[in-house]
Amino acid sequence: MYEVLKNLHSYLRWGVLLFGVLAILLALYAWIRKSEYKKHHNQLSLLFLIFTHTQILIGLILYFLSPVVKIAMQDFGAAMKNESLRFWSLEHPVSMILGAVLISVGRSISKKTSNPVLKHRRTFLYFLAGILVIISAIPNW
Ligand code: HEM
Ligand code: HEM
Repeated sequence: MYEVLKNLHSYLRWGVLLFGVLAILLALYAWIRKSEYKKHHNQLSLLFLIFTHTQILIGLILYFLSPVVKIAMQDFGAAMKNESLRFWSLEHPVSMILGAVLISVGRSISKKTSNPVLKHRRTFLYFLAGILVIISAIPNW
């Protein structure tokens, strides 16, 4: 179960990155061109959100299965002094959740905005901030 989920979590990162980069580039292009907000803008933004949410859900389950996190939990204080234990038990999850919150809030704010140029701009800025936080917390490239 742990191995299967870890592999899935590892592969899904590419989905998050791919749809993230596409959604961000499309939003930037549409913002600059002052385009209408069309169906494919919404679809790509939604795909990015779904991949990100799925990744968070699997990550949360992995957190309770991971042998590395288990070792960290035996003495959380001591784990903070170990780079690898601190990364897996604290930095990776906290950064990823923060990145996902930025992406979710960005989509939600953009949905509530009626002006199409502002919709694209908000999508672009929040998605970019979110993906940068996520990229900063991806291990072993
Ligand atoms: C830990 C698990 C999850 C959490 C905490 C979570 C949280 C959220 C939140 C807060 C929103 C509302 C965003 C808004 O304000 O519009 C949302 C929307 C959504 N989530 Fe998740 N989610 C999780 C897992 C998933 C999974 C596994 C999927 C799909 C496979 C998913 C798909 C969606 C979709 C489709 C929306 C609606 C997006 C829209 O139409 O704007 N989520 N989720
Ligand atoms: C967009 C969000 C995320 C991305 C892109 C991501 C990416 C990754 C990657 C690339 C790995 C390495 C997989 C491997 O070594 O084969 C990993 C491992 C892991 N992630 Fe995430 N992750 C995300 C969110 C989360 C969250 C929210 C949590 C916890 C709440 C989490 C917990 C873990 C755990 C426990 C491991 C495995 C540690 C181990 O036992 O070696 N991840 N993640």
